[in-house]
Amino acid sequence: MTTMTKSPSHPRTNLGVAEIAELFPSLLKIKDETLRAKVAAVWNEAIATGCGGKGWTFEELRAVKFTLLAGDIEMTFIEHLNSCVLQCIAIAGVLESSFRCDIPIQHDYLIAGALLADCGKPLEFDKDASGKVVQGTFGQQVRHPFTGVALAYKHGIPGEVMHIIATHSHEGDKMERSIESIIFHHADFVDFDIAKFLGKRAAKKS
Ligand SMILES: [Fe+2]
Repeated sequence: MTTMTKSPSHPRTNLGVAEIAELFPSLLKIKDETLRAKVAAVWNEAIATGCGGKGWTFEELRAVKFTLLAGDIEMTFIEHLNSCVLQCIAIAGVLESSFRCDIPIQHDYLIAGALLADCGKPLEFDKDASGKVVQGTFGQQVRHPFTGVALAYKHGIPGEVMHIIATHSHEGDKMERSIESIIFHHADFVDFDIAKFLGKRAAKKS
């Protein structure tokens, strides 16, 4: 897969599996090659079209904080997604060895859903005049679970995976989540609640 680079300061386009796996190494754990390529295609589009249409460079995306809501903590958005997917894989393994009944966890869908749950965030985020990352007007109108599903639908992502994207956040509280979505939802909030805790503690010290 060739990578077209306009200049180091411009977003790269035509990112394939190898390039997206630089950001998210767990992408390579998806066994179904077609699904793996589709997940990469969704992220490619999110990166190229996010930030109010300006697109993101890898460097800019890597610098985005985990959450704009948690205050100043040492964790980035990309690190959070990588943390969640690893938590999901670990949780699935523990559940499968702990429950005496069979748990029908679809691992490829779980990993794909974990990697795509926040793929709408590059569209939700924009930069203000000072270059600070903020929730843009579009992001206020259409939060990332919705844009995430829109992007995923465009690239033929299976319904089981779109369900995880759609229901992972509070928008999904009124729905019955699938097993994979339950696992991701909790992993996501483990990170988020700890980030909030640490953010509050940091604010008290300063
Ligand atoms: Fe999210």
